[in-house]
Amino acid sequence: MLGGECGEASQQSMEILVALGKIYGATRMIPVTSSQISGVSYKTIGDAGLEYLQAMVNKGAKVSIPSFLNPAGMDRQQWKEMKVPASFAKKQIEVLDAYSEMGITMTCTCAPYQVGIRPKRGEHVAWSESSAVCFANSVLGARTNREGGPSALASAICGVTPNYGLHLEENRLAEFIVEVEAELKGYADFGAAGYFSGEATKGKNVAFSGIRAADETCLKGLGAAMAASGSTALFYVKGITPEFKAKGGAERITLGKKELLETRGKIGVKEKPQLITLGCPHASLEEISRVSKMVEGKKLSCGLWVCTAKKTKVEAAKKGFVATIEKAGGKVVADTCMVVCPLEEMGYSVTGCNSGKAAKYLGSMCKQKVVFGELEDILC
Ligand code: F3S
Repeated sequence: MLGGECGEASQQSMEILVALGKIYGATRMIPVTSSQISGVSYKTIGDAGLEYLQAMVNKGAKVSIPSFLNPAGMDRQQWKEMKVPASFAKKQIEVLDAYSEMGITMTCTCAPYQVGIRPKRGEHVAWSESSAVCFANSVLGARTNREGGPSALASAICGVTPNYGLHLEENRLAEFIVEVEAELKGYADFGAAGYFSGEATKGKNVAFSGIRAADETCLKGLGAAMAASGSTALFYVKGITPEFKAKGGAERITLGKKELLETRGKIGVKEKPQLITLGCPHASLEEISRVSKMVEGKKLSCGLWVCTAKKTKVEAAKKGFVATIEKAGGKVVADTCMVVCPLEEMGYSVTGCNSGKAAKYLGSMCKQKVVFGELEDILC
């Protein structure tokens, strides 16, 4: 590939992987079983990203392993009624067309593990969405570095990744232990706990002790917030995640009620939101079912989006959840999310959420005032 015998796109992709391997001291390439590719929303990649993708298509790029997309900047079906500007939609469709030409599956989700893409413990993959990376490493026990969009695409084309970082067992020990004394009661609490822990540990592997119970939804929210506030790519929860490995002499910090309340106060304002956004990372069928039960028979006084994968939306529609949410005045939004769509161009400035990751990026990337809390507290 590096010599150009497999074409220009493979050569260029292998050059990226070899350069990364040299920077991080990898001694060889290892096969990966799937690639999850970020850099899909036109809002985040712009014209430069689109041109890069189209150039790859023109060079004959085709993926060689199962490869999946992160959320795009709009719902491919509902973009007009959601008031996405037509100029944005045109560019977004060009981005999606380029990925499709390369053979990448249009999952458009940051939670591929909820639509059947679940690498096994010890399986090596090349994923790039930060929350999905955290989930794959921590909750599934798979092995992936936090790839960038171009390196994940390069792995998708070449089928390998340089063997460094979290692919090596010696780099998978926790360097921080967070002793959780606060009671984490719901998704927003797990998001705030992740936000606090990510910020305090700055990208290092983290092990939690003291968390008594956490289902996959809570772990998803915890990891996503840590990945956003501190670039965390791996965490363990004692007695809950499949692995728990910490360095001897790991640093210890405490997350008590005081730290949790301070974090919640720091990331949210007290205002009435124009729009409540749920599903960061993308909502599972079970979460959509819960929202549907909560809004059944009500008329919401502000907008509501539940962001999810297309496949999950189809299942939710079959069970009647989508119709119930729409009757209350909300929407189930597929393929995109509150952060990567052009929310600020769609007339919103105060947005509610229950996700630590969304709270971080709605403020910094979308110019929103953020109202943060458990679903039952922010629903209006
Ligand atoms: Fe997914 Fe968007 Fe959150 S990509 S993790 S819903 S910011």
